Amino acid sequence: MANVLITFPIFSNYLKKIKEKHNVEILNYSKPLGEEFFIKRIKKYDGIIILLSHKITKNVIDEGRNLKIISNYAVGYDNIDYEYALKKGIYVTNTPDVLTEATANLTWALILTVTRRIVEGDKFTRKGRFKGWKPDLFLGIDLEGKTLGILGLGRIGMAVAKKASSFGMKVIYYDIKKRGRKFNYFELEKVLKLSDILSIHLPLTKDTYHLLNKERFNLIKKGAYIINTSRGEIIDENILIKALEEKRIAGAGLDVYEGEPNINKKLFKFKNVVLTPHIGSATVETRTKMADLAILNVLNVLEGKEPLTKIIP
Ligand code: DGY
Repeated sequence: MANVLITFPIFSNYLKKIKEKHNVEILNYSKPLGEEFFIKRIKKYDGIIILLSHKITKNVIDEGRNLKIISNYAVGYDNIDYEYALKKGIYVTNTPDVLTEATANLTWALILTVTRRIVEGDKFTRKGRFKGWKPDLFLGIDLEGKTLGILGLGRIGMAVAKKASSFGMKVIYYDIKKRGRKFNYFELEKVLKLSDILSIHLPLTKDTYHLLNKERFNLIKKGAYIINTSRGEIIDENILIKALEEKRIAGAGLDVYEGEPNINKKLFKFKNVVLTPHIGSATVETRTKMADLAILNVLNVLEGKEPLTKIIP
């Protein structure tokens, strides 16, 4: 029997199985956990299942003498020093594919909510302020004929792009590599200049940290909307706030933030910004599939097999 740590109670069809086969300790930490927390505990575990807010650094990995697998309950794995883990022969796994549609759907929910002013309209209606139909009440914009710029045409970016035709939108994209001919690839600067709606689907890496900085914000088409369901740190949030204050962009739909779970309170003052609490993959079905995959990866490795979804450098 191996020792397995799960840092948060997850719901999965395989929880019973892993508990029968191994000593499983389940904690209850959804808040960010850092080096100190793991250094104290990691020694005894052969496998760990963690959330995206749980940081596995080089020092943690050095302490994890028995560690064979770090299973991330997320597709993004910027919380793990995966290169170092792989160097030490430890598997690192994530949960790709199973959350693609749910996250793409939330992206579209944000696009529609922000461009059709649904949150504003809801608040107005609940306050009893709706006194009759008016031609200019809560005017938004049409999506038909507009350009959707996707930053990062991986699985989620592609799923978002595919749904764009239902709304009559033209799709352009930027990525570190060109991904087929289905959608038009442009350099980043051009995508920023041409897009009416910019949607971010890049992973957070050293290269994408603050990709949308001051210089790049200046290139964004005036009156564009920005949607982010990827990682908050890809946008320099202070610059985003400035662009909103100066009304250079028309609005934003944000599911992720720099320094989560803390949110820059200045964002709360904008009526044209819709904020959700990192719920891109939050459906019962998807979260169950993510947990299943996270557990199956651990079960496989502890049986001496390859995990299903390992990170390859
Ligand atoms: C991920 O998986 O990386 C998302 O941010 C949460 O589902």
